[in-house]
Parts: sequence; structure tokens; C-alpha cells
Amino acid sequence: MTVSERIIEKAIAAPKAIVLPEGDEPRTLVAAAEVLRRKIAFPILLGNKDIISAEAEKLGADIDGATIIDPECSADAEMLAGELYELRKNKGLTPDNARGLVRDPMYYAVMMVKLGLASGLVSGAVNTTGDMLRPALQIIKTKRPGGIVSSAFLMELKDKNIGEDGLLVYSDCVVVPDPTAEELAQIAIDTAQTAQVLCGIPQPRVAMLSFSTKGSADSDSVRKVRQATELAKGLSPELCIDGEMQFDAAIIPEIGSAKAPGSPVAGRANVLVFPDLQAGNIGYKITQRIGDAKCFAVLQGLAAPCNDLSRGCSADDIVKTIAATVAQAE
Ligand code: ACO
Repeated sequence: MTVSERIIEKAIAAPKAIVLPEGDEPRTLVAAAEVLRRKIAFPILLGNKDIISAEAEKLGADIDGATIIDPECSADAEMLAGELYELRKNKGLTPDNARGLVRDPMYYAVMMVKLGLASGLVSGAVNTTGDMLRPALQIIKTKRPGGIVSSAFLMELKDKNIGEDGLLVYSDCVVVPDPTAEELAQIAIDTAQTAQVLCGIPQPRVAMLSFSTKGSADSDSVRKVRQATELAKGLSPELCIDGEMQFDAAIIPEIGSAKAPGSPVAGRANVLVFPDLQAGNIGYKITQRIGDAKCFAVLQGLAAPCNDLSRGCSADDIVKTIAATVAQAE
């Protein structure tokens, strides 16, 4: 069973209400119909009812059973605006600004999750990652005070000899442009937890990636990775983590044992932590486009699950992301 199939099964066992702010977007509607058919979640579509119904009919998407809410004329809008004002007044938000913001489906959806009216949200088929992330970061906030939000990309490879039976978990490919050593350490710990809890990997083995393996080169950026590795070990002594190491040393057993003899991770890593967002984002796209891997991402570190889609996503990607959001809400 693939990791996405496992996550879908998990969601079916305990489906939850997931709000979809891009409610009239065609791939989102097809995904909502599939989610309803397979009882993966209870979708809440935001947008104009007439437009959503007409678009669904045109697509042949049966969304009977989905809740539709129009933020422009919802009876809850005033209440959500009041709550949003309370949350952000110390950042200069006025009651009028708050009223205006909750008419934006993204803010409306984030407020629904914040107040427990939905268990999570999925967006990004139309909106950019920044547009989706900013309200989530501002309002949902982090699980731990002072924590960091990042992403985990689940990469399903054709070659089952790599990673965990063909599964590699990459981080961070979406959120933190240039993490400090402390942030990178936290990203490594959170990704190992996502690998274990969401993906069912019994023993995450975390490789801290660099262009250097165990001192073969030196620079400020290499020293950052080395420091992050030590910090993560200190914060989470039970974690199986090693670095710094190159990509090939992390995943190819012969290269791992040649370049990092005795490492518990080298050659057998199933979690790969990139030194910054440039490397992570480029790395996942190379794996996807040239390596022909299937992939989807989840955000980690938020107090409630909000997940971002790529604007090039398929309806099937949205179904998987909705299922992962249900599983994270568990
Ligand atoms: N973790 C926790 N909180 C955060 C984080 C984080 N990683 N980043 C920002 N915040 C908080 C800030 O503390 C702030 O809180 P406050 O308003 O309560 O004080 C709030 O979020 C907003 O922060 P800003 O600094 O105003 O937001 P910023 O403009 O830096 O945007 C963002 C944050 C959107 C995450 C930015 O870092 C970004 O654009 N990241 C890259 C996104 C992207 O384009 N990814 C690549 C494409 S995605 C793909 O290919 C799949």
C-alpha cells in the first residue's frame, strides 16, 4: 500500500470537516465530489452558491452533501470579523479592516479553523503559497509558542530500494526561505515526527543535506548544517539524525558507507532536510519532474492543519491533501 493510500484509509476511519476556500475552482470541485464519494471528509466549499452549483454541474461533479458557504453574505461573517479583530487588534487591525478581510474566502476559512468550525483547510490551486500561508501563520499560529512552521513533502519514488520502501520525506521545500541553525534543527525534528505519525515510517532516519559530507568541505552554510545537526541531537536525543552529508551519501548505501562510515543514517536515509528553501524547492521539483516521483506536501508546526497545493495540482493531488489534512487533525 502506498503512503497516500494509507493516509486515505486513515481519513476514512475518522472523516472530518475540511474547508476549501477555492470552492468554485474546477479541480477542487472534482476533488470534493471524490472526497464525498469515498467518505474521506466533509467538504465545506466557500464561494457563491449559484456559481459553485453551475460549475459542479458542468463538470459532472456530484457535490450533494457538501456544505456551501458564501463569505459575502454569511450569517457568521460578523461574528468571525469580531473574533479576527480581537486576535489582530494589537497588530493594528481595525473592526472595519476585519469585516473586509473575512469576505476574503482565505481569511474566512482560516477563521473557521481557528474557531473549530472546521478541522482543517486546503487551498492553493489558485492562490499563491504566500497568500495561503500568511493568514494561516498570523491567525492559526504555531503549535508551540515560538515554534516554526515548515513543510514536509512526501515523495513516492518508483525505485523501492530508496528511502522507506520508495518513500522519502523532504523538508523544507515550501515555507522558510533561509532558516537559522536553530530553525533547521526544529524543522528536522518536526519532519521526523511527520514521517512517523502521518506517513507511518517506524524509524525515521534523518539526513541533514549539504554539499559537504562529514567535513569534506567547509563554509558558513556547511557549518550551519553541522550546528543544526548537533542542536537537533540535543533537543531530541532519541532521534536518528546525522550530517552534514551530500544527497548521494544520504540515499545510496555504497556511497554512504564510503563517505560516512559508521553513520546510522548515511545510505539509508528516509527523511532529507535541505539547508534552505532554494535547495529544498529545487530538489523536490527535480525529483518530481525528472525522477518521475509522485508527491504532495503538508505543512507542519501549525496549531491546526492548513495545507497548501501547488497551482499545477490535479484533482487527485487535492484528494490526497484533503485526506492528509483529516489525518493531521486526528
Ligand atoms: N513559522 C511561524 N511563523 C511564521 C513563519 C514561520 N515559518 N513565517 C512567518 N511567520 C509569522 C510571523 O511571525 C508573523 O506573525 P505576526 O504577524 O503575528 O507577527 C506572520 O507569520 C506574518 O509574517 P511576515 O513576516 O509578515 O510574513 P512574510 O511576508 O515573511 O511571509 C511567508 C511569510 C509567506 C511564509 C514567506 O516566508 C514566504 O513567502 N515563504 C516562501 C513561500 C513560497 O513562495 N514558497 C515556494 C513556492 S511553494 C511550492 O513550490 C510548492
